[in-house]
Amino acid sequence: MEEEEQQWIEDRSDEEEDNEQPLGFDLFNTDKKDPVDEFKIEIGDETITLHGVRSRYPHLLQSTGMTLWEGSKNLCNYICENPSVVYGKTIVELGAGMGLCGMIAHKKGATKVILTDGDTDTLRNMRSNISSNVDEKAIAKEDVICKQLLWGKNIESFRSKWTDDGFDIVMGGDIAYAQSSLQILFETATGLLSNASTACFILSFCFRGGVSVGDIEEACQKFNLDFEKIGEGEKEAIYLIRRRL
Ligand SMILES: C[S@@+](CC[C@H](N)C(=O)[O-])C[C@H]1O[C@@H](n2cnc3c(N)ncnc32)[C@H](O)[C@@H]1O
Repeated sequence: MEEEEQQWIEDRSDEEEDNEQPLGFDLFNTDKKDPVDEFKIEIGDETITLHGVRSRYPHLLQSTGMTLWEGSKNLCNYICENPSVVYGKTIVELGAGMGLCGMIAHKKGATKVILTDGDTDTLRNMRSNISSNVDEKAIAKEDVICKQLLWGKNIESFRSKWTDDGFDIVMGGDIAYAQSSLQILFETATGLLSNASTACFILSFCFRGGVSVGDIEEACQKFNLDFEKIGEGEKEAIYLIRRRL
């Protein structure tokens, strides 16, 4: 754990029930670490080597960010199909997990990408993924960095530390799944987003039982945001969310 990071365990109190058998470790013994392995993933024309858990039971992990979720894959595909969305942009990724989306945004020409997560084990694993896939020079120049960011905490200081006037893009895959954190997620995203009319919160939503597309759209109303929804369904969608002018 980096010196300034706080040990943190995600609140999963209102997640959907999962009655599947565990992977062979005790879910409630937080001293235990998630088992890790290494695998390759192809996204667009990029091949990325990931270190983490190739789990069929993601809800049973101690740290949900230790595996790859569908929301991140969908977000990466969206970025690869629309690279101009990230090209030349400053980006912060929330709940970045294994770091795949941030790395893809960097490879597609983002000028600076800060990958964030609350969980310290996830951050440690993310840093190892970055060093396996991102050019050393880009890491040395801090074009791609990993930082702890807990939603709803120290948002203003994070914004002023890393940007003059907020980020061009705030993004996240599979991060809107718990009612208990929807408000702080939107506070964080809007607090970090630049005031420019082009600034965009790209949210890759997957239905996990706790938060619906209706809840996302209601949160947009509440925070005075306009949205464009890519995808017709109730289960998965990419939301492009901007400040209402
Ligand atoms: C379902 S995982 C998604 C990970 C990754 N984006 C993906 O799609 O593969 C949710 C991620 O959000 C992080 N997270 C959840 N609540 C958070 C909070 N309040 N503050 C910071 N990170 C949080 C978790 O640690 C985890 O890495």
